[in-house]
Amino acid sequence: MQKQEQKENVSSFPLGVRGVTVLAPATIANLVCGFDVLGMALHDPYDAMQLTLSEKPGIRIIHNDTYNLPTTPEQNVAGVSLLELMKELPDNYGFDLIIDKHIKPGSGLGSSAASAAGVVVAANHLLNNIFSKEDLVRFAMAGEKLASGVKHADNISPGIYGGVTLIRSIFPLDVVSVNAPPMYVAVVHPQIEVKTSDAREILRKEVLLKDAIKQWGNIAGLVAGFMKGDYGLISRSLEDVIIEPVRSMLIPGFDEVKTKSVYAGALGGGISGSGPSIFMLCEKENTALKVEKIMKDVYDNTGLKYHTYVTTINNEGIKLI
Ligand code: HSE
Repeated sequence: MQKQEQKENVSSFPLGVRGVTVLAPATIANLVCGFDVLGMALHDPYDAMQLTLSEKPGIRIIHNDTYNLPTTPEQNVAGVSLLELMKELPDNYGFDLIIDKHIKPGSGLGSSAASAAGVVVAANHLLNNIFSKEDLVRFAMAGEKLASGVKHADNISPGIYGGVTLIRSIFPLDVVSVNAPPMYVAVVHPQIEVKTSDAREILRKEVLLKDAIKQWGNIAGLVAGFMKGDYGLISRSLEDVIIEPVRSMLIPGFDEVKTKSVYAGALGGGISGSGPSIFMLCEKENTALKVEKIMKDVYDNTGLKYHTYVTTINNEGIKLI
């Protein structure tokens, strides 16, 4: 939608105190082989955010959690995403935001994306849905840029669209929803911090053609496996020959978790986003519970603190309550 057209649409809405609460879920970016192009929304964990439309211009942010994140809008991922959206509103609009984070920043579970996407979905609801989902992804990418130095949409899009999404292109934006069969997802978050910017910095800038061929075969196989509900094809395609060999060195226990989980019947898995969380996809719940036990045993032995989740794909995405 053109900026002028949007300004005309919203100027007819009465300003007043109206608020909404959203639950913004964790997301798994990359899904092993699809670096920067695939993502999946989970049911657990999730952040809660309360946004109120105000007659007082500007943005005021309160954090109701213990992560000590900045509350200056220009330094806050939700703040910059909302500022991006507000560029397309009349100047007299303001918002009050309360964030209650449960997705730990730096976990690899899309913590910054949950804030960025959650706030623009909430704002759009308060503005009677004048913006499209593509617009919302565009606004929320400002938050990802602040958090990691680059615009990527593989965490934001599954939050906004729900389920599994393919980012065919960012410029111009082309997001494709991919149907996936029911699956259980076991996740372990070892409590070490891996900054996305650092985890991107260590990647090789060039790829061998033979590796590229393997990788795009796997991405296509994974998407086809999801759409056909073919668990065998999903399992065979969960292979990353480019990113994982480099990044997995940052995560103690990675190889052991992966090998033992696959042996226990997981379809496969790998690093969640830029890590340090590790996820495993499973067809059956009891396999996911076995995998969770393996994750706990491995991390008990390392002495590192950790958190585990057994959850499912969240096809709804960000939820308004
Ligand atoms: N695709 C991004 C990366 C996701 O792996 O760097 C970061 O959460």
